[in-house]
Amino acid sequence: MTERGYRPAWAEVDLSAISANAAALAELAPLCAVVKANAYGHGAPEVARAALAGGASWLAVALVEEGVQLRDAGIAAPVLVLAEPTADAMAEAHARDLTPTLYTEPGVKAAAEAATAPWPVHVKIDTGMHRVGASPADVDAVVGAVTSAASLELAGLWTHLAVADEPDQDDYTALQLDRFEAARTRLAAAGVVPPLVHAANSAGALAHPLARYDLIRCGIALYGHRPSPAVTPVVELRPAMALKARVSHVRCLDAGERISYGRRYETRERTVIATVPLGYADGVTRRLFEAGGQLLVGGRRCPIAGVVTMDQLMVDCGPDADVHVGDEVVLIGRQGDDEITAWEVAELLGTISYEVLCAIGPRVPRVYLGR
Ligand SMILES: Cc1ncc(COP(=O)(O)O)c(C=O)c1O
Repeated sequence: MTERGYRPAWAEVDLSAISANAAALAELAPLCAVVKANAYGHGAPEVARAALAGGASWLAVALVEEGVQLRDAGIAAPVLVLAEPTADAMAEAHARDLTPTLYTEPGVKAAAEAATAPWPVHVKIDTGMHRVGASPADVDAVVGAVTSAASLELAGLWTHLAVADEPDQDDYTALQLDRFEAARTRLAAAGVVPPLVHAANSAGALAHPLARYDLIRCGIALYGHRPSPAVTPVVELRPAMALKARVSHVRCLDAGERISYGRRYETRERTVIATVPLGYADGVTRRLFEAGGQLLVGGRRCPIAGVVTMDQLMVDCGPDADVHVGDEVVLIGRQGDDEITAWEVAELLGTISYEVLCAIGPRVPRVYLGR
C-alpha cells in the first residue's frame, strides 16, 4: 500500500500556493493564517508551516485541540484560539502557550485561575455578528477583569465582521467598525491600549482597508479563493487544493439505460460511463448530481450520471470518449485548459466555497506538492 492507500482518489494541496497567497496577503497587513477545521480541509500543520514560510506571523484555530495539534507538530508561532476555551480547557491552553480569546467574566476568571505565569490573552467584542463576544456594554467590565488579574495580560482586542463580503451591506460593516472604534476610544480614555487590534477576515482584508488594523485574520484567501464572488481580490490568489481520482471502471451503455440508485439518470444515446471512486462519504455531496455537477475527464466537462453514492459516482463521458481505467479525473481543480473551482461547485449547491472545501473528508488522502 502506498502513503495514499490503495484507492486512487486524493486531494492535492499545493503548499507553494499557500506560501504565495500568504506572502501576497501579508503585503496588506501582518497576517494571521486561519487554520481551523484542519486548515479548511487542507491539513493544518502543513498549511501552517507553509503560511509561516510565506510571511504569516500568527495562526488562528477554533479549538484548543487544534492549537495542541499545531504544538505537537513542533510549530512554535503564536496561536490565537478564536473562541473562549471552556474552563476545563484553560490549563492545557496555557500550558501549550495558546492565546485564548476571552469575552465573559467567568471565562476571564477561569483563565486567571489556570495561568501559572502572566498569560497574554485577547478580548473579543461583538460589534454586530452576534455569534460570540462581549457586547459593547459589557466589554469594559471584561477588559477590567483581565487587567486586574495578576496572571493575565491584555495582549489584543478584536472583533469579527458579519458582511464584509457583501458590498451591498458595506454600511453595516462601517457600523461594526464604528462600534469597535468607540470601544477602543473608551478603553484608551481609561488608559487601556491593547497592543494588537484586529477585525478583518479575508473579505475585510481585501475589501475594507480600514478594517486591517494590526493583523488580518485570513482563511479562505490563504487557500486561494475569494470570500465571495462579489469581492474583487486585490492581490493574486492561487487555489491550493484540487480533488482528483482515477477512473475505476468503464462501460458502454445503450440509450435508455438508467444509472445509480433511484435510476434518475437516463442515457440519451449509446455512451461511455466511467465510475470514479469518490462519494458522499468523502464530501462529494449526493445532491451534486441533481445540481448539475460535472467532472473534467480527458480535458472535457462531463456530467455526473445518477446520484452520487457513498463511495463512488458515475460520469457520462459521451459516445466517442476514449476513457480507460486509470485515467485521471478532476472534481475540483484544473485539467487541460479548463478548471472547476470550489466556488463553481458551491454555487451549484447553493453554498459557499468554504463548505465545499471543509467537506472533503478524512478518508481522502492529502498529497502535498511544493513542500
Ligand atoms: C473569527 C474569525 N476570524 C477570521 C476567520 C477567517 O475567515 P475567512 O476564511 O473568511 O478569511 C474566521 C472564519 O470563519 C473566523 O471565524
